[in-house]
Amino acid sequence: MRASIACLTLGLFAASAVWADPEATSAPYREYAPMENYRPHVSGDLSLSGTYAYWKDPKNLDWRMAGNPEENWKLNWKFMDPPFNPAIHGGHFALERGEALYKSLNARGRFARCLGADKGTLKGLRARYPMYHRTLKKVAGLEEVIEHCAAQEGRVLQNGSYDNSAVSLYVASQSNGMPIRIDVSKGEMHAAWERGRRLFHMRAGRFNLACASCHTHQIGLRLRGTVVTTPYGDAAHYPVYRTSYQLQSLHLRFIECNLDTRTQPLLPGSRAYTDLEVFLTALSNGYPVTVPSERD
Ligand code: HEC
Repeated sequence: MRASIACLTLGLFAASAVWADPEATSAPYREYAPMENYRPHVSGDLSLSGTYAYWKDPKNLDWRMAGNPEENWKLNWKFMDPPFNPAIHGGHFALERGEALYKSLNARGRFARCLGADKGTLKGLRARYPMYHRTLKKVAGLEEVIEHCAAQEGRVLQNGSYDNSAVSLYVASQSNGMPIRIDVSKGEMHAAWERGRRLFHMRAGRFNLACASCHTHQIGLRLRGTVVTTPYGDAAHYPVYRTSYQLQSLHLRFIECNLDTRTQPLLPGSRAYTDLEVFLTALSNGYPVTVPSERD
């Protein structure tokens, strides 16, 4: 008996040694699930822009994954949960609030410049975020930059707060319909993308789950009431109006997924979340900015 337990332990040890990421010397107990080739078209395509074309093709979606044919689109393109009325939902109130706040912050035109707007116009700005921000001297998401630029105007707009997300929503609305375009092929953006990619595939928390454990293999399966979706296109419809949350920024969504999987959540704007945002936004390259969106 004792021998067989020892054998089993040894066996498990050997198995985990095989699974362990040879590069992850600092944290050998965390498994790295090398699942980058979960979609063959992704490998080698650093901008990952091919994913939109792939998923857009209905042939590549199997309705059985979503449970019924009507819901299949949700696996990949989830900016609206039906039943909905696109003309009026909580996201529109947030948009109005965001517009009013933006206009008061930008009374002297400095706020828009600080956000990186070309010649004061917000058009297309959201499609270029996250980006390397010269004053912050790092890669940052739009909400983090909004907090920084509001502070320059003497205002507190904390990342993750309703008002911060409302301004983000208004800024995003000025790029509606424009495809997300971030370049992660070089420099700081590449480094952030690479860290984000690793984090996405790194197991953590009490259940030892990686983001990829759910958002790649398990897409289409039900977790209690919800169907797990692909990671493509998410970044294009954030911040989202959630019927249970009011307004949710992408980083608040990460907190929710971390809490659901018993993993220590981080603060909005933390480097790990920004890296994840860069990775997910690259997976949204080609998807049009679509706000205000609503999910339940
Ligand atoms: C236990 C499975 C599970 C894990 C692990 C998990 N999620 Fe989720 N996630 C879900 C479910 C379920 C939803 C809600 C349904 C959906 O949209 O996929 C969701 C939703 C999301 C959404 C919003 C999708 C949208 O467009 O509205 C994002 C973004 C997201 N997760 C990112 C992450 C990231 C990043 C991680 C790792 C830190 C992670 N998730 C870990 C299950 C998981």
